[in-house]
Amino acid sequence: MPKSQKPYERYFNGWAKLYDRDLEKYEYCVPHKIFEITPSFLKEQSSLTLLDIGIGTGLTSAPFKQHNQSILVTGVDVSQKMLTLCYHQKRADNLCRTDVANTALPFISNHFDLIILGGVLEYIADPAVLFSEIKRVLKPNGYAVITYEALKKNHFYKSGILTGALEETPEKLTLRRGVRNGFLYHFYKKYLHATNHIRIVCDKNNMRLEKEENFNAYKWSDNKVISYDLLLLQKQA
Ligand SMILES: C[S@@+](CC[C@H](N)C(=O)[O-])C[C@H]1O[C@@H](n2cnc3c(N)ncnc32)[C@H](O)[C@@H]1O
Repeated sequence: MPKSQKPYERYFNGWAKLYDRDLEKYEYCVPHKIFEITPSFLKEQSSLTLLDIGIGTGLTSAPFKQHNQSILVTGVDVSQKMLTLCYHQKRADNLCRTDVANTALPFISNHFDLIILGGVLEYIADPAVLFSEIKRVLKPNGYAVITYEALKKNHFYKSGILTGALEETPEKLTLRRGVRNGFLYHFYKKYLHATNHIRIVCDKNNMRLEKEENFNAYKWSDNKVISYDLLLLQKQA
C-alpha cells in the first residue's frame, strides 16, 4: 500500500479482510433497513440503476442483488481492499475507487434511479459537496437512502488526549479514533453530523425528505448499541 493513503483509507484497508465477519458479530442491520425502506416499485424495476457510495464489501447492496438479479449495482469506495473483496463476492456490476470527500462523482448527470449510503457520512467532514453530487447523478424523481451514526444528546463519547471527542459545533461532533497496528497507532477522524444539519443540506439540494427513522444499527464490541438515523429522500424534478 502506498504511504500516501489517507487515514480513513488506511483504516478501511486494514479492516477489509475481517469486515464482514465483524459486522455479523455486531449484528449490523443497516443492509436490511436500507432494503426495507426502499419503495417496492423500485426494487421490482428491471435494470434499475443503483449507486452504492462507500460500498465496502458490498454488504448493503447484496439484498438488492439477491432480490432482483437485473438491478445494476455500481459501487464507489476509497478502499481498494474493500473493493477487491466486493468484486470477488460478485455483489456489484461496476466498481470504481473514488474518494467522495471533496470530489465529483465519476458519473454523468441524471443517471441513477437509486443511491444508497450506509455508514459513510461519518467519514466525511463536510457533506455539502457529496450531497450536491448525489443530486447531480440522481435521475429526476430518483431516490436516495442514507444512514449514518446519529449524534447523541448525552455524552456518549468522552473527550481524551489521544482518542475521543475533539470538537463540537451545532453541525457535528468530531471524534478522533485510534487503531493499533503492531506497535504503531494510526489515527483517523469520525464526524457525527446533526440530523438538523443534514436535513438543511438535503433541502438546499432539492432533495425532499420522504421518511425518517432512528434505529439500533449494531452492537459495538463492549455491547454499546450504536443507533443510526435513516433518511429516505427524493430528488425533486
Ligand atoms: C462503515 S463502512 C460501510 C460499508 C458499506 N456501506 C456497508 O454498509 O457495509 C464505510 C465505507 O466507506 C468508505 N469510505 C470512507 N470514507 C470514504 C471516502 N471519503 N470516499 C469513499 N469511500 C469512503 C470506507 O472505505 C468503507 O468501505
